[in-house]
Formats: sequence, structure tokens, C-alpha cells
Amino acid sequence: MQTQICSINEDSLALAKKLLLQEETVAFPTETVYGLGADARSDRAVENIYRVKGRPQDNPLIVHVHKDFDLNTLVYDEQPYAAKLREAFLPGPLTLVYPSRGTVSKIVSCGLDTLAVRVPSHPGAQEFLKYVDLPIAAPSANISKHVSPVSAQHVFYDLQGRIPLILDGGACSGGIESTVCDVTGAYPVVLRQGLISREMIEKVAGRCDVYVPKAGEQVRSPGMKYKHYAPKCKTCLFDSVQDAQKSFCTFEKEGQRVYVLCEHKYADMFPDGRVLDLGAEPEEMAARLYSLLREGEQVADVIVAVRPSQRDGIMAGVLNRLNKACAGE
Ligand code: TXA
Ligand code: MG
Repeated sequence: MQTQICSINEDSLALAKKLLLQEETVAFPTETVYGLGADARSDRAVENIYRVKGRPQDNPLIVHVHKDFDLNTLVYDEQPYAAKLREAFLPGPLTLVYPSRGTVSKIVSCGLDTLAVRVPSHPGAQEFLKYVDLPIAAPSANISKHVSPVSAQHVFYDLQGRIPLILDGGACSGGIESTVCDVTGAYPVVLRQGLISREMIEKVAGRCDVYVPKAGEQVRSPGMKYKHYAPKCKTCLFDSVQDAQKSFCTFEKEGQRVYVLCEHKYADMFPDGRVLDLGAEPEEMAARLYSLLREGEQVADVIVAVRPSQRDGIMAGVLNRLNKACAGE
């Protein structure tokens, strides 16, 4: 299969709609990462997403809709605080998990009785969703377990030959996946941290917890149990910059090509041309993380990462992704 990359216009949108109605998948931009979309109503289309990505069959998908879409056709909206969260944060990088009405393919939620819904704010995503006028099931448009894509070229690198069309909306400004928040209970519970922080949700809803799976319990967000976001090269994470420097030297002596991923303030402590600079502000670090991991895996045998010291707000999401990229090392 030939994979076309097209900017977003009348012709490419018409092609996207035609492909979606043929139960094909189409990649599209959002403000967080690129999505791999398919018609959420069709079993076959949704199965195609899992096949194309090599995604485990028990990891449910998010349904993406246009900002004027009537959510009541998809879910039961029972909690008053959920309306406040939509008002405050949508369109934007917040996915809400509701009790499902069962109107989309059951494969979307992998048999759960809930449905995750997201209204992305990227103008290209809104144009796409308005034009196709369908609920679009979409995970991140990467091969399962690889780093999520934040440009059309990243999608092409992973899915070339496997999908017919990539709508190119430029680089994603957000950089990490949306916050996933369960709104089925008396107060919101964050299942996956992201650019809408727990603190921001708490301010609007009065209370917000972050879900931590207990040993032996069935996880509420199945995606959490998988190693995710990993670059193709070895990646090691350090809490102290001194330990990272030592490790850098050890790998160098072994003849390995080492790069360091760190905040801007540490960039001077490593050789020129070997630094993947995350920048200084949390938003910057989120926006750059995946591009740098993808850039790093092209040139490095090993990436030595220094864990940023800030832990709260959106840094919780950034650290979560960095931990998963470096899982256990
Ligand atoms: O920013 C994003 O959310 C991107 C863009 C493309 O919108 N999408 C994305 O999708 O990151 P994906 O499939 O890579 O991650 C979806 C996450 C998984 O952790 C999954 O377990 C969780 O959402 N999820 C989906 N449906 C759920 C449900 N009904 N209950 C609990 N968790 C759910
Ligand atoms: Mg993903």
C-alpha cells in the first residue's frame, strides 16, 4: 500500500472521508500527538487500527469528536462536575471516560462498559472531524510501544506502507498524550496524566484523585500496564546529573555513541553536539520530549536521561512518559 502525506484541504478531506467509509484508517494531527483514526461505528474499521499498530487487543481506544458533536449519542453524562470540566477544558487535551451507551463498535472499549471521548483543539483535527462527520476511534499513530508521533514524518516512519493517508497538520504543540480522566464516579479520577494536570481539574471539580493501581487489582486504564513510548535504542534514566555524567563516560569508554537528554540548565555539562535539550519550562519539555527521543534513537546507541526535578502540574505527565521510555533502566 502507498502512503500519501497530504496537507489538509478540501481534496485531502474528501479522500479521508472516502477511505474512512471504506473502513480504512487515516492518520490526523491533534494538539497532543498524531492519531490513527477509523470509523468508531464499524467493527472492521476498528479492528484495522489494532492490526495496523500491532496493538494488544485489551487496550481500549479513545473516540474523537467535533466540538459541536452531541455527546449524549455516545455516553450517559451523569455527573454535574463533568459539564464543568468540558466547559473549562474542551476542546483541548482532556479525555473523559463516561458510562457508554454502546452506540459505537464494542471493540473500541474492549468490552468495558465505559467509553473514552476526546474533543481535540487542533484546528486541523476540528476541520477533519467536522468534514467526515463521524465519531473517530483513534490511538496514537505509532507502532505499538514505540514513541508517539508528533509530526506527519514520525507517522510515516512507523506506518509507511500500512495506511493509505496521513493528514499533515504540522508539528503537535502539546507533545504528550491527553490526560485521561474517569468521570463515572462521585469525583474525577485521573487514569493517565497529561497536559491538563490533576491540580487544574481539582480547581474546577473541587476534588480530583490520581488512580494508582493496587497490587493484584484489575487496572482501570488497561494502557497503563504496557511498556510504552520506548525509543529503539537503550535508554537510562538518572536522578542526579553527576550519575548521568559518570554513566555517559562509562558508555563512551565502551565505544558506544551516547547522547544525553536533559533540561537546558545541564546542557553545558556534556560535550557539544551530544545534548538533546528539553528546554526549561514544563510546556517546552512536554512539547520536545517525543521529538528528541525519536531524534536520539536515529543517532545514539544509548540515551542517558536526567530526570527533571519538578514533579507537579504537567511535569507529572512528562515524568510519567520519561519513566515509561526508560522502563526499568
Ligand atoms: O492525546 C491523545 O489522547 C492521543 C491523541 C491521538 O488523541 N491518543 C492516545 O490514544 O494517546 P492511546 O490509544 O495511545 O491511549 C488511550 C489511553 C490508553 O491508556 C487506554 O487504556 C485509555 O486511554 N482508555 C481508553 N478507553 C478507556 C476506557 N474506556 N476506560 C479507561 N481507559 C481507557
Ligand atoms: Mg499510544
